Amino acid sequence: MTILVTGGAGYIGSHAVLLLKEKGEKVVVLDNLQKGHRAAALDVPLYEGDIRDETVLDRIFTENKIDAVIHFAANSLVGESMEQPLAYYDNNVIGSYHLVKKMVEYDIKKIVFSSTAAVYGNPVNIPILENDPTIPTNVYGETKLAIEKLLRWMDGAHGLKSVCLRYFNAAGADPEGKIGEDHTPESHLIPIVLQAALGQREKVMIFGDDYPTEDGTCIRDYIHVMDLAEAHYLALQYLDKTETSNIFNLGNGTGFSVKEVIATCRTVTNVSIVAETASRRAGDPAVLIATSEKAQRVLGWKPKYGSLETIIKHAWNWHVHHPNGYSMKKDEAGE
Ligand code: UFG
Repeated sequence: MTILVTGGAGYIGSHAVLLLKEKGEKVVVLDNLQKGHRAAALDVPLYEGDIRDETVLDRIFTENKIDAVIHFAANSLVGESMEQPLAYYDNNVIGSYHLVKKMVEYDIKKIVFSSTAAVYGNPVNIPILENDPTIPTNVYGETKLAIEKLLRWMDGAHGLKSVCLRYFNAAGADPEGKIGEDHTPESHLIPIVLQAALGQREKVMIFGDDYPTEDGTCIRDYIHVMDLAEAHYLALQYLDKTETSNIFNLGNGTGFSVKEVIATCRTVTNVSIVAETASRRAGDPAVLIATSEKAQRVLGWKPKYGSLETIIKHAWNWHVHHPNGYSMKKDEAGE
């Protein structure tokens, strides 16, 4: 099977590429390298281009016999999406429009789509079920939900089968440390805390300690990026076998507060990371926890790295060995 991975040089996409290679699949990556890193896509053929560019999509689909697409390419920062809604509709929704249009043209019938817990907005139930209401509270979630809906209509009209995977908080890194997380600027909790442990930040700001949770800080469901990658592989097999569209949550089903995450980072790194309470970050729900019972039952998915400590250990291993992420260290660059 040859799989096109859009956004395969990004954080979650590159881990999916690594896993697909380990499974012996043939992979082609399309990435505009705006956020992604060439080195993250390993030795896989990389088309540097944009999902909105139909000429590059034509090239990929004529030069390769693509059997299925895994679609990660997107802008994915909640805060930024509130300031730049047009950029998010453009890249995420219009980009997906061009991608699926070309898939129909080239008769490619299977897509696994990278969706998010942000489609739920403020949850009505904890843990969150796939058929709970989807009322996004930010533009990012709204664009991902729009794409889910587009895919549903594309199934009805063109028989394009999709699996939408709604991730909770992706974290961790390849256990062997070949690839990991590198965002500029970084906004996610675990890499920020680990940067503080490395001395790259003075302290961590805790965004609000007055939430209705036990210690007052927000609770999230952290899921190892390689477990997410595995779910994409299983979703492809599911599409092959059943030719049925479906939607799945992906999380561990256990929540950890911001303070618990910082405490676990202190244990793993053995560094007394300084943390300070700041005001709430706009748009943060107090608690987001998934039930992934459906993915476990239907896809046969079982997270391998369920413990927060393991997730943080793997992330720490990456950060210690790549303190500058994918960019060269000053001495390597000859500066
Ligand atoms: N946080 C801090 N300090 C920081 C950074 C984060 O206290 O410096 C807190 C946040 O307020 C939040 C928690 O840590 O309560 C986790 O924040 P992240 O930014 O790591 O992750 P989010 O839960 O905001 O976002 C994640 C994904 C999004 C997705 C969202 C779904 O990264 O893509 O879950 O709600 F949309």
